Amino acid sequence: MSLTEQPEAEPAAEAAQEHLRDRISADSLTTRRDYLRIVATVSGGLALGGVGVAAGILHRHGDSENLPETRKVADQLLPGQSVAFRFPGDEDRAVAVRLVDGTLVGYSAVCTHLACAVLWRADRGPEGELYCPCHEGVFDARTGEVAAGPPPRPLPRIFLTEQLDGSIWAVATARSGEPAKDALCRQFADARPDMTERLGCPGATPAPVNGQT
Ligand code: FES
Repeated sequence: MSLTEQPEAEPAAEAAQEHLRDRISADSLTTRRDYLRIVATVSGGLALGGVGVAAGILHRHGDSENLPETRKVADQLLPGQSVAFRFPGDEDRAVAVRLVDGTLVGYSAVCTHLACAVLWRADRGPEGELYCPCHEGVFDARTGEVAAGPPPRPLPRIFLTEQLDGSIWAVATARSGEPAKDALCRQFADARPDMTERLGCPGATPAPVNGQT
């Protein structure tokens, strides 16, 4: 045998290599199978969530007829900033945004397509956007209306107030596309007759003046 000739592989070494090849292909099969199962589970969950929402089985943002408990959202929110919070219930994802011109807006952060989480992207467009990464859904930051992608309805609105100390509070919600006055009249009806009168809600009774009934 010359110095450049390779020795023939020993039978034992060949068997070991064969075994290793089998292990590698078995592992990659397992990994692929697991991956597909995870994807199917996630996709199935999303699809079920969408069907559940469409069929009215699952809770939808703003479904409550009653005035929710007021909740503090942030100590302060500067232009271009956002904060995630839960409202009206502990399971209801929501987002508050201070637009660059100072306007404060709040929305449900549950996409109206298949209920994925909606994210705030400050660096998109002149005033940012609300974005759903599941299927590239985009919502207008100022109105909550659908700007792109498959979502069928605007994001439900959350009504926010700002106190003198700069703190921000969530006070009420609207259903997707529901006019603000209708939403507030619906929720203030029993709890805040003074507010329903000020808003001019249908059926509002005048509040008593100077203790008169
Ligand atoms: S879940 Fe499909 S775009 Fe949001």
